[in-house]
Amino acid sequence: MPTKDHAAGAPLFTAVETDRLSTVTLTFEGQPLRAPAGATVAAALLLNGVAPFRTTPVTSAPRAPYCMMGVCFECLVEIDGKPSRQACLTAVRDGMVIKCQQGASAIAIEEEVEA
Ligand code: FES
Repeated sequence: MPTKDHAAGAPLFTAVETDRLSTVTLTFEGQPLRAPAGATVAAALLLNGVAPFRTTPVTSAPRAPYCMMGVCFECLVEIDGKPSRQACLTAVRDGMVIKCQQGASAIAIEEEVEA
């Protein structure tokens, strides 16, 4: 039953007006996108209408974020050349380069720091 604040037909969620917020510029598959500073990569891509984010290794089925909290791993993308990054747990940065992850990808191993 709709409440007084949520009338039938009214959207449950609305985008925050970005003209009052600082924004960053990033690219997805070479296309420049703008997103609110502090947003996650997943939120930024969805706000810009991007989907899917990746394809599955076996059937190449398209995938997009599902849980938005780091559990499902459906949001994996390549960020600044590093594959298998969870878009829902990564904050946007100005100049970030994001690519769709196609199938299986090795997980980048960070260089070990010498003790
Ligand atoms: S959307 Fe589920 S882990 Fe990112």
